[in-house]
Amino acid sequence: MHKKLLALILSLALCAGSAWPVISQAPPNAMVKQRQAAMTLLAKYYGPLAAMADGKAPLNKEVMARNAGYLDALSRMPWDGFAASTAAEKSRVLPAAYSEPAKFRSAQDEFIAAVANLLSLSKGGDGAAVKNAVGTVGETCGGCHKSFRQPS
Ligand code: HEC
Repeated sequence: MHKKLLALILSLALCAGSAWPVISQAPPNAMVKQRQAAMTLLAKYYGPLAAMADGKAPLNKEVMARNAGYLDALSRMPWDGFAASTAAEKSRVLPAAYSEPAKFRSAQDEFIAAVANLLSLSKGGDGAAVKNAVGTVGETCGGCHKSFRQPS
């Protein structure tokens, strides 16, 4: 009860200073499900690209460009789901996401930029550059997980 109340007060305090207008928010447990669903889909559409970049699958430019487009949209989706109102919910997010918001935010921004770069390169003809960009995206996934996700 106290934890929930604290989370509510925290979330109201954060909403007041947020750049995003929060009109109506899903209940905290639904927000956790939604952000985890976005992560699951990131993994679904990133996996085949990683296999191509690692030479485990042949480079398929159509799939590369399509998945890069999906990733570009998905890369922007999970973050509002880490609202302070979810801090008391069961999940794998580490407390650092809330105690070091600027660092968490910059990990998100780095990831979004890496995916945008992949998307623009995926439309060109340079296979090596595209593979490199896939690798950079993977590093930004891993870097954020290392700092902000509990190891399983
Ligand atoms: C800026 C940080 C950040 C980035 C970037 C990031 N993740 Fe995550 N990811 C997290 C956090 C935090 C969790 C734990 C979320 C939770 O338990 O609610 C998570 C959870 C996951 C999960 C588990 C989902 C579940 O159902 O519990 C998968 C799979 C995943 N991430 C894949 C990826 C992939 C693939 C990428 C890159 C293409 C990526 N993530 C990029 C922070 C990040």
